[in-house]
Amino acid sequence: MRRASLSDRFRGVSEPRSKGASFTEMTEVVLPQHANVLGSVFGGTVMAWVDVCGAITAQRHCKRVCVTAAVDDLAFLAPIRVGDIVRLTGRVNATFRTSLEVDVRVEREDPRTLERSVCVETLMTFVAVDDEGRPCVVPPLAYENDDDTRRRDAAYARREARLARARERTKAP
Ligand SMILES: CC(C)(COP(=O)(O)OP(=O)(O)OC[C@H]1O[C@@H](n2cnc3c(N)ncnc32)[C@H](O)[C@@H]1OP(=O)(O)O)[C@@H](O)C(=O)NCCC(=O)NCCS
Repeated sequence: MRRASLSDRFRGVSEPRSKGASFTEMTEVVLPQHANVLGSVFGGTVMAWVDVCGAITAQRHCKRVCVTAAVDDLAFLAPIRVGDIVRLTGRVNATFRTSLEVDVRVEREDPRTLERSVCVETLMTFVAVDDEGRPCVVPPLAYENDDDTRRRDAAYARREARLARARERTKAP
């Protein structure tokens, strides 16, 4: 992919940005059109919501359009039923050079008890791009406490493994 010009690639990259500035919360309700024959939501519908939540989080951090580069393991831990409220949250774990890792969590909320349980948790990598889709340098994330630095260190380790897997995939057979 062609590179953005040096000045554009650094546009808007200044002081570290806090995780709070990009934290995203989305609420959906599961309607009959979202359901499979068992009355629980289609996995693909949840994946689309996850992608939107992650992209909004990344874009709020970068103040740029961000594209999905990779999604780590995505497991459905419990069914989400018609009538349930679905809460999605996104937060930035770490920033790299032109990419960043976003943690997206999906919880179902029982409308009668308001009890919440985690149904999906996944890690996504987004790449900030310019108007022509060329990768651009992302602003750094401010790591404000021990939990933030723990998440950052884990994200850096995962990045190495993720890129190694990507390299393996692209190797000639
Ligand atoms: C993601 C994409 C922009 C990367 O472009 P590229 O030409 O490989 O560019 P680069 O090699 O410079 O990589 C750019 C960044 O992507 C990261 N990246 C590329 N492939 C990756 C992968 N499989 N997993 C994680 N990160 C990846 C690189 O590490 C780099 O980040 P860094 O600068 O922080 O190290 C490009 O492959 C693309 O446009 N893919 C399609 C995206 C898309 O359509 N998504 C769905 C709709 S939004």
